[in-house]
Amino acid sequence: MSSRKKSKKKNIVPLLVLLIIIAVLVYFWYQKYLEKTSLKISLVNKLTAEINSEVELKKYVKAITNGELLNGSDMVETDKLGKKELSLKIKAKDKEVDYPFEIEVVDTTKPEITASKEISSYVNKDIDLLKDVTVSDNSKEEISAKVTGEYDKTKEGKYELKYEAIDSSGNKAEYDFILNIISDPNNYTFTTSKGFQGKVVDGVTYIDGTLIANKTYALPSNYGKGITSEANSAFSKMKEAAAADGISIWIASGYRSYYDQKYIYNNYVKNDGQAMADTYSARPGHSEHQTGLAMDLNYIDDDFGNTAAGIWLNNNSYKYGFILRYVKGKDDITGYKYEPWHFRYVGTDLAKKLYNDGNWITVEEYYGIDSKYK
Ligand code: DAL
Ligand code: ZN
Repeated sequence: MSSRKKSKKKNIVPLLVLLIIIAVLVYFWYQKYLEKTSLKISLVNKLTAEINSEVELKKYVKAITNGELLNGSDMVETDKLGKKELSLKIKAKDKEVDYPFEIEVVDTTKPEITASKEISSYVNKDIDLLKDVTVSDNSKEEISAKVTGEYDKTKEGKYELKYEAIDSSGNKAEYDFILNIISDPNNYTFTTSKGFQGKVVDGVTYIDGTLIANKTYALPSNYGKGITSEANSAFSKMKEAAAADGISIWIASGYRSYYDQKYIYNNYVKNDGQAMADTYSARPGHSEHQTGLAMDLNYIDDDFGNTAAGIWLNNNSYKYGFILRYVKGKDDITGYKYEPWHFRYVGTDLAKKLYNDGNWITVEEYYGIDSKYK
């Protein structure tokens, strides 16, 4: 009797062991299953945004497993410095999950300084070095520049100075420039913002060898004595080529002396007021017509650019060394409104560059100079 009982007990033990093994296996399998199917989110390491930059929420997500990001293309507000709460919306197994996290809006970009590379002044003249400097910053703060470096306005020389601008996050921009203090305002050299060599000889400005007359650069009142022979013969060649294409061109207004210009400018001022006159007529000493290299052709009329002659000149003048000087839409650069009739002789090499396959570059843009009365 006792031996039978013992053998029954013996039989149940392996069964129990088997059940335990199965339970353990099921447990591990279930854990694996949960791991495989549960939502996992990992964010990028750098949880920052530059102030006023355009950032999409998904930029902060490194990976999502077992879920789909619903608001990844939402834009993050980056207009204030400091901590910002964000939240990912994720669809996981048919339910929506919010995943909040924090980023910091920072400013690591330095301000941008726009200024002339070289400023000229005369011995003993007071000069405001901050007059034409602008500072912009991604933080949209108003930042002013300051000048660092030493100069002596009583002494002729080229002084290497710097503009400095710092935003409220401490990002600092520096901009090197040269203050050129000269003793003879009619004879000096300078460098343009595009690195071209400028030379003023007896009050006449040449940049890279090209005579310049605009609102910034004037001519002495006694300069000029008619259309130059070079411009004249280039014009004759251009006229002949135009005629061969059935186009007639003629000079409506060529050389104008300082005093001719003074007379016509004053008349315009009388009729239209100075501000208006300055948009289309040069003050005496500032007209290209005084250089002997500029000509108004055919009709001084805004529609001339649409006539056969205007179109021909626009497309062909560069081959003879002429440029369309006052290009449409560049009033702020040249200082004048569009003048489809005004052509300036600069020689064929420069004319071809400025023609730029029909997309005219102005003299001011090419050399890096301005055209403003100072
Ligand atoms: N019309 C041009 C700008 C001049 O007066 O020279
Ligand atoms: Zn003209």
